[in-house]
Amino acid sequence: MCGIVGYVGERRAAPVILDGLRRLEYRGYDSAGLAVIDQDELRLVRRVGFVAALAAAVPADLPGSTGIGHTRWATHGGVTEDNAHPHLDSTNRIAVVHNGIIENHMPLRARLQDEGVVFRSETDTEVLAHLISIFYKADSTAGPEAAVRQALELVQGTYGVAVIFLDHPGLIIAARNGSPLVVGKGNGETFLASDPHALSAHTREVVYLEDRDIVRIDASGWTISRMDGGGVSRAVEVLGEEWQDEGRGDYSHHMLKEIHEQPESLARCLRGRVVPDQGTARLGGFELSPRDIAAIRHLTVLGCGTSFHAGLVGAAAMEGLARIPASAEIASEYRYRNPVVAADDLYFAVSQSGETADTLGAVREVQVKGGRVFGVVNVVGSSIARTCGRGVYVHSGPEIAVASTKAFTSQVAAMLVAALSFARTRALGPHEGKAFGEELLSVPERVGEWLTAEPPGLMDAVELCTSGKFVFFLGRGVSHAVALEGALKLKEVAYVPCMAYPAAEMKHGPIALLDKRTPVVVVVPDDVMRDKTLSTIQEVRARGAQVIAIHTVGDDQTPKVADVCIPVPRSNPLISPLFSVLPLQLLAYRAGLALARDIDRPRNLAKSVTVE
Ligand code: AGP
Repeated sequence: MCGIVGYVGERRAAPVILDGLRRLEYRGYDSAGLAVIDQDELRLVRRVGFVAALAAAVPADLPGSTGIGHTRWATHGGVTEDNAHPHLDSTNRIAVVHNGIIENHMPLRARLQDEGVVFRSETDTEVLAHLISIFYKADSTAGPEAAVRQALELVQGTYGVAVIFLDHPGLIIAARNGSPLVVGKGNGETFLASDPHALSAHTREVVYLEDRDIVRIDASGWTISRMDGGGVSRAVEVLGEEWQDEGRGDYSHHMLKEIHEQPESLARCLRGRVVPDQGTARLGGFELSPRDIAAIRHLTVLGCGTSFHAGLVGAAAMEGLARIPASAEIASEYRYRNPVVAADDLYFAVSQSGETADTLGAVREVQVKGGRVFGVVNVVGSSIARTCGRGVYVHSGPEIAVASTKAFTSQVAAMLVAALSFARTRALGPHEGKAFGEELLSVPERVGEWLTAEPPGLMDAVELCTSGKFVFFLGRGVSHAVALEGALKLKEVAYVPCMAYPAAEMKHGPIALLDKRTPVVVVVPDDVMRDKTLSTIQEVRARGAQVIAIHTVGDDQTPKVADVCIPVPRSNPLISPLFSVLPLQLLAYRAGLALARDIDRPRNLAKSVTVE
């Protein structure tokens, strides 16, 4: 959420910063800005809208080889040029970009105003620019780092912050507390960014800052120290291939490309992990002995949004297959209810970005209470992966579209692998384990086959969903998780109002909303619950609503009662979400297209949500 880029070296900073901001735009895109030091002037350019609008406004020959830039997802203050970052102090000699939230910005602002400071924005960030300026002026011999340090000591909340000083060309001061920052090593130049995507074109050698690190960056390198004093050395890591910029290829949108990448992303996730001859699976990062696994009393899967939906499937698999009582919880709710954490319980933190503040907060809550939490994360080296220190990477590859698609299926697949491995240690026999493992391994190819042609009924479903009042999504068990995910996709990408319900729950209230203009998408695999879901479909139709059924190929009952049918491959019920979610991803994509939405950058959203 929000992107930061910094550059210091011999090149002109502006093009490097703009390139980095373009790569980070998926993190936030309501406005963007940059500031560079041009001899005796801080040059500031900010624009509302995408980075392209900023690029068009930045003079092609803008000099200055030290600079910072930012792409914003608004928290405090509307989407205006004044609220766009960087923010300057009153002397226009200090520029600040910031990710995170300064929670005590109101009292700080009031204090500064009492001292005569005039604010030029509604943001929480601007207090930082003024505080740094005041400390800097009070003792300029102490230097910029001391001023940033003193200002940050007054701040409560989260920050990834970068600051430049007109008096100190060739220097960036940056600090992290809760919002990631990474420093990249070049040849006679140094880069800073809120995630490695911005750096991968320039360098592969990076250092991740830890919370409460403060860093002095110049062209020759960096010096990191702790906020409370004392130097610290952080290891240089080499970025893996997952950070390569792949572009959109021949696809019109990242979302469509990522939907079609699922055969490969699933294969990467499963490769080397499922051991079919032994009917089991191995997950390197788990390091739990059979005795540990046998002693697990409960699994809680934590996540937000799509990752929570994947967690629902993961919990169901762990309970159904491994016979470990399990539940999924929305991470943003979890830590504030002072949860009971038991040492023999297990926790999974599921996150594509690995930077979601709510999930990270839940991880810390579990850890503070002595619980064992394992990451199920896509982005290698991300905050959640590092904080958990153990777990699995789902290896879906970079996901750029804000709407998560391939990460969902990889998260589900990774948790199915974990469930199989735990199940074999506990109750599952080798034959059932083998059948489950072999079926899992067949999924990537079958997903690929299914995706080769647009499914029948898809455009009829799009027509119904884009012309109705709102859309209901129904399903039972793991199909309820799929219904939730389908509804989230349609909201995010097409802005179509919709809601998801456990199918049988509809008659307990929401059925009052049904009429001819409320299409109902029902995820109804051919499992033990199918006939009960068919009864729900009848109840829906009796109210005049049209039914779009996502059903199992070969099921001859569901098509008799549905208005639109989209068949998906037959599978083990626990594996079925890997198939039944596919038409719902395509439905959202096509509906977004039909309604001329900005598919990859839906309004008001950002790819990684690093504020609470
Ligand atoms: C998914 O389409 C959403 N953009 C969103 O719900 C997302 O899944 C959620 O913010 C969690 O993100 P994470 O997986 O990166 O933690």
